[in-house]
This record gives sequence, C-alpha cells and structure tokens, in this order.
Amino acid sequence: MILAEGLRCVFGAREREALSMLRAGESRTAIMERTGTVVALDDVGLRVDEGELLVVMGLSGSGKSTLLRCLNRLVTPSSGSIRVAGQDVMAMGSRELRRFRRRTFGMVFQHFALLAHRTVLQNVEFGLEIQGVARRERRRAAEQALDLVGLAGWEDKRPGQLSGGMKQRAGLARALAADASILLMDEAFGALDPLIRHDMQAELVALQRRLRKTIVFVSHDLDEAVALGGRIALMMDGAIVQDGTAESILAAPATPYVKRFVAHIDVSSVLRVATLADRSATPPRGSWPVLQGDMTLREALPLLAEGPDGLAVQDEAGRTIGVLSRRAALAALARQPLKEEPAWPSLSPASRSPSYATASSIG
Ligand SMILES: Nc1ncnc2c1ncn2[C@@H]1O[C@H](COP(=O)(O)OP(=O)(O)OP(=O)(O)O)[C@@H](O)[C@H]1O
Ligand SMILES: [Mg+2]
Repeated sequence: MILAEGLRCVFGAREREALSMLRAGESRTAIMERTGTVVALDDVGLRVDEGELLVVMGLSGSGKSTLLRCLNRLVTPSSGSIRVAGQDVMAMGSRELRRFRRRTFGMVFQHFALLAHRTVLQNVEFGLEIQGVARRERRRAAEQALDLVGLAGWEDKRPGQLSGGMKQRAGLARALAADASILLMDEAFGALDPLIRHDMQAELVALQRRLRKTIVFVSHDLDEAVALGGRIALMMDGAIVQDGTAESILAAPATPYVKRFVAHIDVSSVLRVATLADRSATPPRGSWPVLQGDMTLREALPLLAEGPDGLAVQDEAGRTIGVLSRRAALAALARQPLKEEPAWPSLSPASRSPSYATASSIG
C-alpha cells in the first residue's frame, strides 16, 4: 500500500519562503510573483491499496508527474510523509533509497528509454543486471516478461527495429521483469497511435488482473482513465480536487472545474448497470440474458436491444438485485452532457497557472 500525506513540493531558489507563504494560505500566483518559486504540490494526500490501479489525471502542469516522482523520491517533497509497504520513504538515506526504488518500483515513461545498442532481451534484462541477478535467472525473467506483453520472438531485435507500440511493450516488459510490486507509469501510452493505445490499455487491464500489481498511472486523457477502469484522482494546480471511480465523479462532481472536466465523458462507458437497475421491479419471465451489475451500460446495450423490455441484473454472487429497462438505459444515455463548451480551459501560459480558479465561474 502507498500512503502519502500532506505532500508539498516547490521548485525554485526561495523554497523556505515559498513554503511559509503557502502555509499562511497565500495563493500560488502570489508565491510565484514574490519568490519566483513554482508550487507543484500543495498538501496532497494519496492512498493506493495493494493490487489497485489509480489513474492520476489533470491538465498539463497540474503536478501529476511531480506527485508520481515523489512516491519513490525521484523528487523529494519539501514536506509531508510517504509510506510504501509500511516503510517510511522520507526517512531513507540515499543508498537505502536506491535499493528500495529498484526492488519496489518499476517505471514506464512516455518515451520508451530503451538502449539502442542492446537487443530487446538485453534491454528487458537491464534492471535485473544492475541488481546483480545471475545471468540465467535474469534471462528467464526477461523472456517471461516479453511473453506476457506479447513480444515473444522479438528478443534479438534492436529497439530501432520495433514499432512505437512494440517499444512501449518492451518498456513495460522491462518494468515487469524486475518483478516490482508497484508500477509507476507516466503518460506511458502517450506516444502511441489511438488504436494501438486502446490495445495497450486493454492489455494493461488484463495484465493487472492477472498479476495484481499496484499501478499508479498518470494520464491527461479522460478516455484513457475510464478505459483503465480504476479509481481516478483528479488534480488541479498541485492539489487533488476529487478522488473516486469515474462513475462517482460523474454522479457528483466536487467542483465546477471537475464538472467541466467530465463534461465530455461517454456516460455509457462509465455508468454501471447496478447503478441504473430498478431494485423493486420484477425480472421478466422466460430464459432471457441476465446482466451483471458491474457491466457498463455500453456492454449491456446490445443485450437490452433484444428480448423483453427489461433484463434481470445480478450481483457478483449471482443474486438478482433488480431490473434494467430499456427506458432507464435510454434516460441515462439522454443525460449525456451536451457538447457545447470546450472541455479544456485554454492552455496558454497566462491561463495555465493558478487562474484555473476562473473555471469555477464558468460552471
Ligand atoms: N524540475 C522542475 N523544476 C522546476 N519546475 C518544475 C520541475 N518539475 C516540475 N516543475 C513545475 O511544477 C509544475 C507541475 O509540473 P508537473 O510536471 O508535475 O506537471 P504535469 O501535471 O505532469 O504536467 P504534464 O501533463 O505537462 O506532464 C509545473 O508548473 C512545472 O513547471
Ligand atoms: Mg507530466
């Protein structure tokens, strides 16, 4: 489990002054103006359970990468506490930290960071090599990881001979080979074509189910966050403004900014059948398909389109919990937000910094 509390992180020469201004409740703009110091994280808390996938989302500059890098102290926060698997990360000395990082974390970045002169296999082995793992054992781990990501047979190629998607798979294999329990992924699929990106998202979800890794995945893409299906922590101006499943965020956006952020979400891929089911209705008689409560509305639509007007909904234990009618499904789809306003505030430098506050006036 990862548990971070009260993380503050500022970049600039006048760190102490900036921090005391921050504690005194001064705005990021005021701090920037007076000290020239950027507040990247302002009192961020985060909890990721073992085997959970958390997507950290937010616009450019909101502090996602900084937060991710604080978790294994590639960036040391100015204050706050970080515990990973019960260990106090802030208290670690540099040697201990290096070992801890190598053992516990695998990192995957947008740019694949593969070594061009090494073969794919040698790249995947690299982390284990640094750890001093014996040759035969690291070969076995690397081959297994390549197999997992669908790159068996490509061991002897050089990175230059791979497509973007294959390079990203190799990068993922490298992180998996080291058998770290936590994967930190920063815009890991950001450089991929949309179709390949979708494939990779689906494969990551499948891998996650199989391997039960703890994953913190940074993305600025809402569709990606929804596709990965985990909990979402939405950041703005160095703070987490809302944290929950896509469905819960959609149902009750915490701020006008969040509301705008999710305005273009495809509700059919977020809403769960269990949420929409009428708990008091009687299921149709006859042998009709049954919907699972954790299905998305999108998955249920083809089944709803045929058969009677309403299908039974079951929970995980196979108990009938209600009925989803075509009418309720259509009504949910009709609530799809209208696509009038641009979802993204302007990204010009002037509006980038703390002026996101203006989003609240748009609401
Ligand atoms: N090493 C650094 N030195 C100075 N400022 C930094 C440094 N790293 C990040 N920042 C600043 O901290 C803020 C948060 O940056 P961060 O990279 O965490 O944002 P992000 O959400 O990952 O953005 P993006 O989506 O563009 O990657 C930004 O204003 C950025 O300019
Ligand atoms: Mg980033």
